[in-house]
Amino acid sequence: MSQGVDVAAGGAQQEQDSDVLVIFGITGDLAKKMTFRALYRLERRGELHCPIVGVAGDDITVDQLVDRARQAITASGEAMDDAVFQRLAGRLTYLSGNVTDAPVYEALTAALRPYHRPLFYLEVPPALFGPIVDQLGEASLLDAARVAVEKPFGHDLASARELNARLHRHLREDQILRVDHFLGKEPVIELEYLRFANVAIAQVWDRQSVSCIQITMAENFGVEDRGRFYDGVGALRDVVQNHLMQVLALVAMEPPASASGSELRDKKAEVLRAMPAANPAHCVRGQYRGYRDIDGVAADSTTETFVALELEIDNWRWSGVPIFLRAGKSLTERVTEVRLILRSTPRLSFLPTPAQVEPNQIVLRIDPNPGFRMQLIARDEDETWRTIPLQTVFGTELGEPMEPYERLFLAALGGDHRLFGREDAIEETWRILQPLLTDPPPVQEYDPGSWGPAAADDLLGDLPPWHQPWLN
Ligand code: BG6
Repeated sequence: MSQGVDVAAGGAQQEQDSDVLVIFGITGDLAKKMTFRALYRLERRGELHCPIVGVAGDDITVDQLVDRARQAITASGEAMDDAVFQRLAGRLTYLSGNVTDAPVYEALTAALRPYHRPLFYLEVPPALFGPIVDQLGEASLLDAARVAVEKPFGHDLASARELNARLHRHLREDQILRVDHFLGKEPVIELEYLRFANVAIAQVWDRQSVSCIQITMAENFGVEDRGRFYDGVGALRDVVQNHLMQVLALVAMEPPASASGSELRDKKAEVLRAMPAANPAHCVRGQYRGYRDIDGVAADSTTETFVALELEIDNWRWSGVPIFLRAGKSLTERVTEVRLILRSTPRLSFLPTPAQVEPNQIVLRIDPNPGFRMQLIARDEDETWRTIPLQTVFGTELGEPMEPYERLFLAALGGDHRLFGREDAIEETWRILQPLLTDPPPVQEYDPGSWGPAAADDLLGDLPPWHQPWLN
C-alpha cells in the first residue's frame, strides 16, 4: 500500500495502513456491481493485504457470500483466475444482523480484537451512516479507525451539515473518507498532472486565454430500475453536486504546494469558496418524456433528469469566465467531458479571404475512453482554415488504468485522503447549488435521445453554443 501521502516514509506509511476492512452492506447492489470486482482486481495485483469482514442484514453463511462474490465478479466480465479468487475468498468472513442494534457490534468487537486499525466502509443507505457510526463509537471501535461513507452525502446544505456534525461526534475529520467515485477515475486524477506539469497547458489555463468552460455529463440510458431512488434525488443531486463539482474544483483550483492530501483539498475548497451561489434564472431543468411511467416515479413528478446551469468563479484566475455544466439521462450519447473554449484570434488578414477562425479548444474526455485533445486551426489545400485535432487517448499511451473503486479502496486502506471529499468542500458545493434546490426552475420535457430541452441552448446566450462532445 504505497499511495498514502500524508506520511512521508514507508515505515510510517505501514502504520497508517488499515489492517482489516469491514464492509457494511456487503450483500447490497454496490457490492455486487463494484466492490467484489474491485477487491478481486486488487487481490490480483497483490495489493490486498488484510482480512475482510462483511456485515449486512441478510441471513446467509460465509460460503453463500463467497458464492455471491464469485457470481458478481464473473458477471462483471472479469476473467476469473481461481487461485486469485481463492485468496480473496480466504479473507472473507461475514456477520449478519441488524446494523442498528447492539448485538452486531458485540460480535464485531470480538472479530476485530486481533486488529488495530480497521477501515469501516459504509455501503448502506445514508440514513444509516449516523446510527452505524454511533454504534461503532459506543462499542469503542473507532479510536484508530477510518470510516468511508458512500454518496449521497446529504440532500441539501442543512442535511450535509447535520451529517458532518453527527459523524464528528465520534470521528475526527482525518478519520472520515467521503467517497465520490469520480475522484477515482484516471482522467480526473490526470487533471492535476496535465494542468501543472505542462507549461503549454498551464499558460493558457486562465481568464486571459479561456473564454468559457463547458462540462457535459451525458448518459444515453434512462433511470430504468432506479425510479424509487432517483425520483427523490434528480440530476442535480445525483451527479452535479458531487461528481461534476469535484471535477470543476480540480479544473479550476490553484496548484497544491505539496503532495499532502490536505494541500490538495485546501486548494479545492478555496476555489469552491470563490464561487457565488448559483442563480435559478441561469438554470434549466428537464425531464425526459416517459420518465413518469417508470416504476417508483410519481405520476406528477417534477424531478429533473437533466440539468444545465451556469456558474462563475470570482477570483483572479477565472473572473469573467462563464462555466456551464449540463448533465442528463436519456440523451444522445454517453460521454463526460470538460471543454475549455479559448479566446478568439484577431481576424486572420493573411488568408486569401481574411477570416475569424474558430477558437482553439481543450478537451478532457472522462468517459468513455478517456483522453485529451486540443483543437487547433490549420490551413488546408484550398487555403482556407480548418480545425484539426491534436489528441491522445490515455488507454493507448498510459496503459490500462485501475478501476475507480480499486483506486478508492487502495487509497482508503492506505489513508490517502486526496481521493475523498472533505467536509468544507462538500458543504461549499451544497451552498453553491442550494438556491436551485430552494427555488427550482420549472421542469421542461425533452425527447429521449435528444440533447435535453431547447432552453438549455438558450442558457448560453451569445456565447459559443454547447459544443458537440468529442466522441469516439
Ligand atoms: C452515479 C449516479 O453516482 O454515477 C448514476 O448515481 C450515474 O446515476 C453514475 O449513472 C455515473 O457514473 P459512471 O462512472 O458510470 O459514469
